Amino acid sequence: MPRIAYVNGAYVQHRDAATHVEDRGYQFADAVYEVIAIAGRRLLDEEPHLDRLGHSLSELGIGWPLVRPALRYALREVARANRVSNGLVYLQVSRGVAKRDYVPPAGLQPVLVITAKSTPAPSEAPGPGVAVISAPDLRWKRVDIKSTGLLGAAINKQKARAAGAWECWQLDERGFVTEGTSSNAWILTHEGELITRPTGHDILAGITRATVARVARQLQLKVVERPFTIAEAQGAREAFMTRATSIVTPVVRVDGKQVGAGAAGDVVARLRAEYLRAVGDSEPFW
Ligand code: PDD
Repeated sequence: MPRIAYVNGAYVQHRDAATHVEDRGYQFADAVYEVIAIAGRRLLDEEPHLDRLGHSLSELGIGWPLVRPALRYALREVARANRVSNGLVYLQVSRGVAKRDYVPPAGLQPVLVITAKSTPAPSEAPGPGVAVISAPDLRWKRVDIKSTGLLGAAINKQKARAAGAWECWQLDERGFVTEGTSSNAWILTHEGELITRPTGHDILAGITRATVARVARQLQLKVVERPFTIAEAQGAREAFMTRATSIVTPVVRVDGKQVGAGAAGDVVARLRAEYLRAVGDSEPFW
């Protein structure tokens, strides 16, 4: 089946989907994006993802490319056209197309691109877990804005893969973990506290992070928002990461040291199952 993408109002063949060479997203990373997971023909946590898109757009002074109900409709149309029951929808909004100049002209029309792809349905079981390495955080100082300026993250993710790990936990100048390159970082202490860095300009306010924190509190778990170090993670009872497309994933090795039993822990497994229950009640869209 041919893949379909949305580019500024048109549903086109994926292989022909293109924006202009002077799109500011391409020249300046002057663009923001969201990735929303789809499970059982439902968009998971759609509204908070659109709220975060609103934050990214307003921090950069880019207008909404469509009113919100029309954007919701377009996301569903792209998912439907690609027959995605489980997978993700990707949307990107750039400031627009203009002659290359650091200062954009007023009144640009934002460029909206949407794609969707299928992936295996998320399992309730957390799987065997992944290894992470650490490296200095190379990114800019406003990563709360989900911009397409992902070079620092891409470099660190490649470092992780070269070291046989899945993710890189990035470190601030004091040696505390900010977050993964495309996920938020968590540990569970031996005292039973869930630790994750507070939101601010130095991490992306993960939507999965917020839902998992809410679910954890409902389970009477204590969530403490504070930075933690690699040494603390290595000595933790459990460690994990959160992101839309992989939900809650155990981290079983940090910089070569085994965490806990070196396998998915009880709390990770519980949070993953409860997360799926918490987000699974929206209307299927096809
Ligand atoms: N990344 N931190 C960063 C830097 C991220 O890029 C992401 C998501 C997250 C997790 O956020 P959420 O729970 O809202 O998915 C945290 C997306 C999936 C990506 O770039 O592919």
